[in-house]
Amino acid sequence: MTIAFNVSRSIPAKVDAVGIPVGSDGPIPASVGLSRAALKSIGFEGKREQTLVLAPAGRSNAVRILIGVGDVASIDESSMRLIAAALARAAKKNVSLATTLAGISKMNRKTAAQAVVEGITLATHRYGALKNDKDFSAKLSSLTLVATDATSAATKAGAERGKVIADAVCQARDFANMPPAYLTAKMFADKAVEIAQSTGLTVTVYNRDQLKAMGCGGMIGVNKGSVEPPRMVKLDYAPAGSGAKIVLVGKGVMYDSGGISLKPSNDSHAIMKMDMSGAAAVLATMSTLASLKCKTKVTAYLMCTDNMPSGGALKLGDVLTMRNGKTVEIHNTDAEGRLILADGLSLAAESKPDAIVDIATLTGAIIVAIGEKVAGVMGNNQSFIEQVKASATRTDEPVWQLPLIDDYKKGLDSVVADMRNVTSGGGAGSITAALFLREFVADVPWAHLDIAGTMDVRSDEGWRNRGATAFGTRLLIDLVTNFRKPSRK
Ligand code: BES
Ligand code: ZN
Ligand code: MN
Repeated sequence: MTIAFNVSRSIPAKVDAVGIPVGSDGPIPASVGLSRAALKSIGFEGKREQTLVLAPAGRSNAVRILIGVGDVASIDESSMRLIAAALARAAKKNVSLATTLAGISKMNRKTAAQAVVEGITLATHRYGALKNDKDFSAKLSSLTLVATDATSAATKAGAERGKVIADAVCQARDFANMPPAYLTAKMFADKAVEIAQSTGLTVTVYNRDQLKAMGCGGMIGVNKGSVEPPRMVKLDYAPAGSGAKIVLVGKGVMYDSGGISLKPSNDSHAIMKMDMSGAAAVLATMSTLASLKCKTKVTAYLMCTDNMPSGGALKLGDVLTMRNGKTVEIHNTDAEGRLILADGLSLAAESKPDAIVDIATLTGAIIVAIGEKVAGVMGNNQSFIEQVKASATRTDEPVWQLPLIDDYKKGLDSVVADMRNVTSGGGAGSITAALFLREFVADVPWAHLDIAGTMDVRSDEGWRNRGATAFGTRLLIDLVTNFRKPSRK
């Protein structure tokens, strides 16, 4: 269900619920009809994300939802998004909601409205296509943001921007939540073509023969055990008169069984349908650029294939030749993401862009290192990594930088090839994976996002809902729309 937004000077008469912001100090709005002491006595103190539902009062039939906003002066876009998400969770059984929330903070009005719309949309989204239970989806379908004459235009602009971004995130979540049989590489490529055509992008799809002819040995090798053919999707967004150029590369492993290095059958195996979350985030990002009037030129590669075991599958000891000519000896077929990214990164580097970003559910080791709330970031250019970190802060898709320790590269030495695809022990699996990727970006400023830990959550929390999170989508949108050419070190 998508949510329609509008901006109005007052609370509409026929709305089902009204979201009333209440701070942790200062006056209580008159429409609440209760003192701070009375609210406190029933456990509501106006703390951030706290909610209290009150029956309709006066002539209105609208349920009143008090939404705690804490210290108003310190609200920023990340806290505003979480406050809006909490309001949406309390209002999800209502069809229409109106609120003054976007107007209460000291922040820029457009940014505030964008954060409110993002929080509300993301907290009510469900992938409901396979559920018979009609109550599974939130009922909320219309939101009114109350603004004044002076703030109406900025509120509207922010809400529109928030809607474009949040709808793209929901699309990426849907793709990641889809069972593997509902989204093969071929089907995903078809969807990408549809999305590209309706959002002003140029799209080219490469099949197995074309990938082979292009020397994409990583894609061909990983796909070897699969009945489903691979697809590489190239998307181009080329605004008129643009200066800077960036390339995005997404890991699109539609299902990661591990290949002959088979994964065990447990819950973590069952979520390997989400191993294409990087590609979904990249596709979603691309779909927003024309609407958001992005000034940067952006090219994307979605690297899509299954990773399956079979009589024809990739074997340990096999050597693959990647697009940039480097040879890789396979020591674990479950380290497949880096093999397909190698081809995508090589192609990206060939076009000599100002920067490359890859996003991938790459290593379980990142969960051991930094857990499931924060993604890993690594790269070869600190000033570009700082841009990624700034975007992560604004979008509340937090990242933590790990060092590319050159010495660990020795662990990838191979007897017969230029390198092996995994080290034998030594730990730091996320770092050695990134050191592997670095071999394919030449001297282009590059950042790698490892989203294995953040790709899904087990329960609703903040802007995340149970299932796929589409983590990194908003970060990438923020990054490319604010992109500045980094200095080459
Ligand atoms: N897709 C997995 C990584 C992953 C793990 C994603 C957990 C999401 C949650 C990746 O292809 C993989 O299997 N990585 C291996 C690398 C190892 C063989 C060096 C891993 O993490 O075990
Ligand atoms: Zn994988
Ligand atoms: Mn794997």
